[in-house]
Amino acid sequence: MKHLAIFASGGGSNARKIIEYFKASPEVRVALVVSNKKYAPVLDMAAEHRIPTLVIDRALFYETEGLLDILAQHRIDFIALAGFLWLIPPYLVGAYQGRMVNIHPALLPKYGGKGMYGHHVHEAVKAAGETETGLTIHYVNPEYDEGAVIFQARCPVGPDDTPETIAAKVLALEHRHYSEVLAGLLTGSQ
Ligand code: GRF
Repeated sequence: MKHLAIFASGGGSNARKIIEYFKASPEVRVALVVSNKKYAPVLDMAAEHRIPTLVIDRALFYETEGLLDILAQHRIDFIALAGFLWLIPPYLVGAYQGRMVNIHPALLPKYGGKGMYGHHVHEAVKAAGETETGLTIHYVNPEYDEGAVIFQARCPVGPDDTPETIAAKVLALEHRHYSEVLAGLLTGSQ
């Protein structure tokens, strides 16, 4: 059984999809949900599924390596970032090299990097007059959105699309693909 941790800062709709996807899996268990926000809805959702949760603060995350012990206690093999906005410190990247991925709501390397998250991404896509956008799943390295790309999926952007409709399309695409890509990485199947 592989133990997966999900790191999420916000609403957690991707986290929910991943938890539901692996709920009955004999191969993958979502064993921990980590958030940097004490009142993140994702924590309530995880608790409803009886998944252990952990709230971290900047001191623990950036000034110690104590998180590694906690991850080890939960026997975490793999980390999926799903709307987690803090930059991952080098000790954690190093410990989970090739075993930590992020999902980004655009076709990297376009529209990535510091400050490019949430509505900022979709507003930039609209402002640039792009005719397509999509998602990127990539390994995590110590820079924002720069690790090796694992998977991309695309969707069209029309003249009538707004940042809001683009966001909805991309999020639907994320829900469709993230769990399957994780399954492939964790079990070698899809
Ligand atoms: C997603 O768009 C993801 O690509 C980005 O943050 C968003 C998280 O949404 N990294 P949710 O919290 O899973 O609903």
